[in-house]
Amino acid sequence: HAVVHHKFEVRRTSHTRLCTTKSMLTVNGQFPGPTIYARRGELVVVDVINRADANITIHWHGVKMPRYPWTDGADAVTQCPITPGKSFRQRVLLSDEEGTLFWHAHIDWARATVYGAIVILPPKTHTYPFPKPHAEFPILLGEWWNDDVQQVYEDFMASGAAPQLSDAFLVNGQPGDLYPCSKQDTLKLSVEPGKTYLIRMVNAMMNFITFFKIKDHNVTVVGMDGAYTKPLNTDHIAIIPGQTIDFLLEANQPPSRYYMAARVYAGAPLGRTYLPTTVIVEYVGNYTRPSSLLLPSFPEFDDFREASPPISATGSEALPTTTTPSKLLGSMNNVTMLLPKTQNILEAYYKGIRGVFTPDFPAMTPIIYNFTQGYKPENLAPAHFGTAVYMLDYNSEVEMVLQGTDYGYGDGIDHPMHLHGHSFYVVGTGYGNFDPNTDPPNFNLIDPPLGNMVAVPRNGWSAIRFKANNPGVWFMHCHFERHHSWGMMMAFIVKDGEAPNEKMLPPPPDMPRCEAPPAA
Ligand code: C2O
Ligand code: CU
Repeated sequence: HAVVHHKFEVRRTSHTRLCTTKSMLTVNGQFPGPTIYARRGELVVVDVINRADANITIHWHGVKMPRYPWTDGADAVTQCPITPGKSFRQRVLLSDEEGTLFWHAHIDWARATVYGAIVILPPKTHTYPFPKPHAEFPILLGEWWNDDVQQVYEDFMASGAAPQLSDAFLVNGQPGDLYPCSKQDTLKLSVEPGKTYLIRMVNAMMNFITFFKIKDHNVTVVGMDGAYTKPLNTDHIAIIPGQTIDFLLEANQPPSRYYMAARVYAGAPLGRTYLPTTVIVEYVGNYTRPSSLLLPSFPEFDDFREASPPISATGSEALPTTTTPSKLLGSMNNVTMLLPKTQNILEAYYKGIRGVFTPDFPAMTPIIYNFTQGYKPENLAPAHFGTAVYMLDYNSEVEMVLQGTDYGYGDGIDHPMHLHGHSFYVVGTGYGNFDPNTDPPNFNLIDPPLGNMVAVPRNGWSAIRFKANNPGVWFMHCHFERHHSWGMMMAFIVKDGEAPNEKMLPPPPDMPRCEAPPAA
């Protein structure tokens, strides 16, 4: 494999937004962090060096890490954190991924400031499956807190209530010109009339699904979650936290300046309104620049149909054909997951350390931990705490129906669910309660979308299928950071297969050491 090397120094650096300066965790002093460029099939080696005062882990979101969960970066699931002063060499093999993914911190709420894009180009001998764009730009959506995010996280965990909301939405680290003190630094994208641009968009936000739109322009979606899609022409994009969407923008309108903007999808996000974050698309050439710009008109708030355009994978060869699935019905099946302290599930599994997890994630009990309006399963019981994992045999074909529930919150909310180590097909989505008799016949087994993220509609369900062909320990969780922190997560252990190339590889020599548990 060709090897791409990076050095990630995590430290505290000062940054100013919204007239406020604060010290925050960054990689190499950059916010957002550095973009990794590599080609499909290459090995990315990243030396992560912790020069900060906080523990850190780095996750390669959407990279499958074949047979090598060791450097997947999920705190307490695949490793203990890199403590201050320590470093960890993370090997990230790009196998079949091509397109855009991202990396982010995967401990507490550190990913609010520690994230960056991963751009995976075709192998040297290949080209894009669409005409070569004139230029390409990564666009990372994020959030900004004026306060220290670790403090926001700790207060949130201590309070038991909703977290303090962020103060701005960001594009590539900038709030845009609707926010105070932000006009100067508003991102500009210069385009030449008639040319086509590839935008690689990442939703690195902590807590929001967003709509994204460019005034007077349609775009063509060509990729999602590190894979190409059938081209889809649309006037807006909806993107959930953790998702990446690649699209082509053709500069085919009268030369002028146009807003490109992202606005929150939910109508009343936890009780406040957010200004859209903006970028200015500026045609080059001689014409009178308009002094004020109009925002595009977005879809209605909470419109899940507008939020789920019919994106399809380019092929579905690997679509599991399961008809009698090993079915896990429910969001997180009534288990509120506790992350092990001073240990991690992967090492406990590999070394046979007892007492870290239990292999009994309930497979059949329908639902709970989260929220379905008017839906109370018959065997409703209060959720309990545990570190339960679901064991899967190598190569099992898995179908999961994720049922959104609304146990106690009245209104419910969509959940952006994310799986590590695999991509999955989203074969069905519906409102209300999943019906095991009438819904499966309507599954899309022809051209479903493929990715590592699925939006489970509020008070509705989504069904996914994947083949458990990657031995290791793989996290699954809601990519709303507040839900994740509330325990809306679980883990799979995919067992080794028979053949030597179906087994997990051994750990690297510099795995971060787990602290000894406090003496009893
Ligand atoms: Cu993007 Cu488990 O995370
Ligand atoms: Cu959620």
